[in-house]
Amino acid sequence: MSISIPRGTQDILPGEVEKWQLIEAKARELCEKYQYKEIRTPIFEHTDLFSRGVGDSTDIVQKEMYTFEDRGKRSLTLRPEGTAAVVRSYVEKKMFGLPNQPVKLYYMGPMFRYERPQAGRFRQFVQFGIEALGSNDPAIDAEVISLAMNLYKEMGLKKLKLIINSLGDKESRNAHREALVNHFKPRIGEFCHDCQNRLEKNPLRILDCKVDREHELMRIAPSILEFLNDYSKNYFEKLQKYLTQLDIPFEVDANLVRGLDYYNHTAFEIMSDSEGFGAITTLCGGGRYNGLAEEIGGPETPGIGFALSIERFIAALNAEGIELEINESIDCYLAALGEEAKDYTVVLLQELRRAGFSAERDYLDRKIKGQFKAADRLKAKFVAVLGDEELKNNKINVKNMSSGEQVEIDLATFIKQFKELQE
Ligand code: HAM
Repeated sequence: MSISIPRGTQDILPGEVEKWQLIEAKARELCEKYQYKEIRTPIFEHTDLFSRGVGDSTDIVQKEMYTFEDRGKRSLTLRPEGTAAVVRSYVEKKMFGLPNQPVKLYYMGPMFRYERPQAGRFRQFVQFGIEALGSNDPAIDAEVISLAMNLYKEMGLKKLKLIINSLGDKESRNAHREALVNHFKPRIGEFCHDCQNRLEKNPLRILDCKVDREHELMRIAPSILEFLNDYSKNYFEKLQKYLTQLDIPFEVDANLVRGLDYYNHTAFEIMSDSEGFGAITTLCGGGRYNGLAEEIGGPETPGIGFALSIERFIAALNAEGIELEINESIDCYLAALGEEAKDYTVVLLQELRRAGFSAERDYLDRKIKGQFKAADRLKAKFVAVLGDEELKNNKINVKNMSSGEQVEIDLATFIKQFKELQE
């Protein structure tokens, strides 16, 4: 019996992988401009990091983690997200002591969640994310949001919707929490088992419940925005002012609750507004997580970031019908006639590649016609033909495949002259 790919994962093959590379390259380019530096953390971490960091009452921790015991009986978990690990590293490597503050980091790599697979939802997916640690300035919240928006825009996406909310500081959230408990408690029996547990542990999570989404109490639940104290209100207003200055349109949605527990103040999501996108419209999510560093044993540190998956990025591009420009051609195909000529192309091929050209030759002992067909399939810009006869005379024939022009050049100066043909 053949073995198939695990559910919720995918192979990204040549033809498709080029899109990933373009997005990844653009993300790195923007991070360079915005001065976020790459960090690479392990694929697995101690399970405690996520139960404490992401939060015990979240779906991610309760239902979606790939947790296993290693041979030393430690509980480890394949990372479901990147923020907790980045903050763990920030604390462990004492990055709060670095001269350059705030510390601005980005990451790109696979994350794992045991979710029900559907379009846009995978069990292994690749996140690109950034985290800015050490600043309490709402201008950096605006910077983080603008990096995500610019990445989408620079890849051609137009139908984007930015939704923001404030979850306030601890004081505001405590007041809101109490109001939520009072609101839901009398009728909590009508809610799902998970919500009943959430009531005392983390009533805000009730608002994020997929099962009870339509319950009438949801719509009229007390809004966090009514409970923001002056500091939180002012912070949120500043963020909105900066976004307006940056020409980034947004909507405030008081019901935006993120699926992770560490958020306070700014929370945001970028959605695709494209008709063809399907049920899951969130492309990117992020927010502020002051307090997370303390939660995992570090000093009090403000932080903000976002993550987006490349899978949903590509789905959004497809939904908007955007074709990325992919370079599919090669510079030179080396065709050979005769045994000696074939031997010779082994070295010639290497010389071309060393000189910076993409180049290919035949490895299937094809006739010359077959070699030209292969060159066509590879969209070769030039085909250089070497026969035993030419070899004897130290010559090689080079054909420009778009103009049909042919020139004979000296083998000894092939690379130099091939370079000149490009001009
Ligand atoms: P999140 O909302 O859980 O936040 O995930 C962020 C993004 O990852 C989503 O908007 C979506 O694009 C993508 N994503 C999540 N789950 C899947 C999945 N199963 N399949 C495909 N894509 C998925 C976080 O992970 C936070 N760490 C974001 C953050 C960074 N907050 C502050 N800093």
